[in-house]
Formats: sequence, C-alpha cells, structure tokens
Amino acid sequence: MFTAAALQSDSKPEQYAELAEQARGLLHGERDRIANAANFAALVYNALPGLNWAGFYFFDGTELVVGPFQGQPACVRIALDKGVCGAAASTRQTQVVLDVHAFPGHIACDAASRSEIVVPLVVDGNLLGVFDVDSPELARFDEDDRVGMERLAAIFLQSLRAE
Ligand code: SME
Repeated sequence: MFTAAALQSDSKPEQYAELAEQARGLLHGERDRIANAANFAALVYNALPGLNWAGFYFFDGTELVVGPFQGQPACVRIALDKGVCGAAASTRQTQVVLDVHAFPGHIACDAASRSEIVVPLVVDGNLLGVFDVDSPELARFDEDDRVGMERLAAIFLQSLRAE
C-alpha cells in the first residue's frame, strides 16, 4: 500500500521533485485513467500547501467535463472558449493566473479561489483534458509551479501508457 509522505523541503523545486517521485510510486503498475487521476489529484491536493482544489477536466470531443478531484464540488462542463481551463485546453499552454478576478472569463467554482494554474494534457497531439489547481492565496503559483506541475502532469500521462 502506498503511503504519502509529508514533503521534507521548503524549496518549491525540491518539493516538486519529492512529489514527482511519490507520483511515480503511486501510479506504478496501474493504467486506468480514472483510478490514476483520482489518486494523483488526492496526492497533489494533500501534499502541496495552500490549495483549495486540485483535479481533472477531460475533453469529451466537444467540451471539458469534470473528472476526479479534491476540493469543493465544481462546475461540470466548461467550453473550450471559457475560463482558465478552456484557455489552457485551446492554447495547449499552461495558464498561470496570479489573480483570478483579473482573468476575463474566469469561472468561479469556489468563491474562495484567488489564483490558479491549469496544465493542458496532450497525448500524441490530441487533447486529453487539463489538470487544474486552485488556491485561496493571491499569486500562489509561479514559474517553479509551472515547471513542477508540468512535470507531474507528464508523470500522470506516462502512467496511462506504461507497459
Ligand atoms: N476556475 C476554472 C474552473 C474550474 S474550477 O476552478 C475547479 C476556470 O476558470 O476554468
């Protein structure tokens, strides 16, 4: 049984390195997308400080539909031209939003959210969905988080295709 360990470092790059190792261990040997998404969201949500939501939206061919997550109940469907999630999905670029109130079209699922990072999930050129993380703190996410979250998202995607 996998046991999540508290992060040992105060440095963000080191925290993400520790978390990457835990994510690999947690997802090892399982390829089911829902199972791995659920455990991955729970790992990130419980490991990193200052979060109020962490989870997935999967692309159904038309729009984004909420998947496994931790946090308050969320909006179910997001069009690709709506919100931070839609922006990440349609541009296929990670969105780091320091102040969600200043982001045109931001969708407030939890009124407590103040900043957000959304990583697009692309497999063989096809949009699988996005990984979305919210914080009640203003400017919670920076370049270290972008690099770290993209690395974590890659580990999730790799788990789906591992032999
Ligand atoms: N804030 C997101 C919507 C999803 S919730 O944050 C969970 C957005 O603007 O796309």
